[in-house]
Amino acid sequence: MCGIVGFVGSEQAAPILLDGLARLEYRGYDSAGVAVVSEQHELQVRKAKGRLQALSDAIHGGADLKGCIGMGHTRWATHGAPSEVNSHPHVSAGGKFAVIHNGIIENYVEIKEFLISQGVRFKSETDTEVVAQLLEFYYHECHDFFEAVGRVLRRIEGAYALGMLCADCPDRIIAARKDAPLLLGYGDGCTFLASDATAIIRHTRDVAYMEDGEVAVLTADGIRVYNALSQPVEKEHHRIDWEVSAAEKGGYQHFMLKEIMEQPEALRRAIFPRIRDGKIALGGMKLTNAQIRDFSRIFIVACGSSYHVGMIGKYNLEHLLHRSVEVCLASEFRYSDPIVDEHTLVIVISQSGETLDTMAALREAKKRGAYILSIVNVVGSSIARESDDVLYTWAGPEIAVATTKAYSTQLAVLDMIGLYFGEVLGTVDPAEYGEVVAELQKLPEKMEALLGRCDDIPKYAAEYFNHNSVFFIGRNLDYALGLEGSLKLKEISYIHSEAYASGELKHGTISLIEDGTLVIALGTYAPLFDKAMSNVVEVKARGADVLALTTESHAKEMAKTVENVLTIPDTARLLLPSLGVVPLQLFSYYVALQRGCDIDKPRNLAKSVTVE
Ligand code: F6R
Repeated sequence: MCGIVGFVGSEQAAPILLDGLARLEYRGYDSAGVAVVSEQHELQVRKAKGRLQALSDAIHGGADLKGCIGMGHTRWATHGAPSEVNSHPHVSAGGKFAVIHNGIIENYVEIKEFLISQGVRFKSETDTEVVAQLLEFYYHECHDFFEAVGRVLRRIEGAYALGMLCADCPDRIIAARKDAPLLLGYGDGCTFLASDATAIIRHTRDVAYMEDGEVAVLTADGIRVYNALSQPVEKEHHRIDWEVSAAEKGGYQHFMLKEIMEQPEALRRAIFPRIRDGKIALGGMKLTNAQIRDFSRIFIVACGSSYHVGMIGKYNLEHLLHRSVEVCLASEFRYSDPIVDEHTLVIVISQSGETLDTMAALREAKKRGAYILSIVNVVGSSIARESDDVLYTWAGPEIAVATTKAYSTQLAVLDMIGLYFGEVLGTVDPAEYGEVVAELQKLPEKMEALLGRCDDIPKYAAEYFNHNSVFFIGRNLDYALGLEGSLKLKEISYIHSEAYASGELKHGTISLIEDGTLVIALGTYAPLFDKAMSNVVEVKARGADVLALTTESHAKEMAKTVENVLTIPDTARLLLPSLGVVPLQLFSYYVALQRGCDIDKPRNLAKSVTVE
């Protein structure tokens, strides 16, 4: 959610912070702020409601704030409306401490009441301000910044990535982490703090990931890290291996379009190294064949689009493994008293690797003895680190809030898990195995061809962008694909949209279909094509405007009933959603463009949901 960046060195901090925040803005964008320590050791804090540009303009690109140590924050509001006063950094009443925070302080009300009873006056409605005020309160008792931080951390409950400045210790930032991502960057004569690497990669690729309970003291000379018992910790350093350009727009109007176009390349990275001599080879996976045979239950757990990948995975894995697979929303799984034991495999899917509900579900499953195999994009993220096994999607940084290339690569990796397990269990038909592996290898090329001939999509977007309600219908894999198509459309274009299993229409929803209702009919899944057509006829008979999606081999048949038809290349049945999602992504993109929406930063949303 919120973005955090900190810098300590010998260069001017403010421009570095603004640049870092610009790269983090996708994490939250309702307000932003910076705090820079002046040469006179004063905390200079500036904030602005709205996009980062407002803050940057207010401080003339950083020129107004002189000083070589500081931190910045871009906010996604949880407690308190988006406003200047609620934005971070929060400053203590006596002006000694500035704090930036990502997460939620759950017991803030109780602490706030206590501090008010001690005469402390609060300015904002946020949970974060209690950290700044509490720091000052304890500092008055102990006169030691580090010790005051320790006391605060023992008092607060909840999730946090914190950056803290103290006017009396103008050479350092103290950072702390619990259940919210935070990494440390090591530069030449300078150090960094960031919620993700995109913020600092222009300056350093040498990073360390903070663990829960750790506290870090950043100075220009280096970073000292302590565990929850205040014992020094040696951090393992990691090298960020993607290029700065991967997190830039590269000539595209939006990150979303760039990331849609990057999908073939991302798929090559996810698939090609995992196929050897016609066989799936999940290199680096620790799971043994004996363990795979031992699992009696399989869950897939995720949120949002990653959950939709899981929905497709359920169909494909059940088909390949002849076992039942339960797919669960992480936010439900964690509170559902799931039947999980040491013979259970939980496949966790997450682009960011930081989604709080997914993380909590992972921990719950682990506590109950399950084996955790995760599919993650962000290398070194919390979910990746806490899993027993991780398969990375290698999609590269995904900046647009609406996921595209992460979805496609997650799907490919899940299909590969299905094929691999199916072979170990002896449940997959060898001919189908060979066909799907061959088609996986052709997938990037087919997707490239598909992307090259989607010119009619802007035309359909122009025709339909004024609709205010849309239904996606489909059966089996097309239903699961429809869930993703519908989410894409609603999140970036703000059009109300629902996805239904076509067979369910007659059980209630069809009453909503009237003259001119837009129905996006998905008919890519060949075994149920005829049934899909019956549903198309039904909605058309009630006046629906239908836009259909099918395969090249069924296009003619579809065109007999529907005028507007999008087609995808034919491929193995299991892989149809991997191609089918592309026109749906592009349709949402162009509809949102027509409606003048802020495509990369849709309202109320943020990438990486690190609050419950
Ligand atoms: C939708 C979208 C979200 C995420 C969800 C899970 O376009 O991006 O629905 O899929 O928030 O996020 P991760 O995969 O990071 O756990």
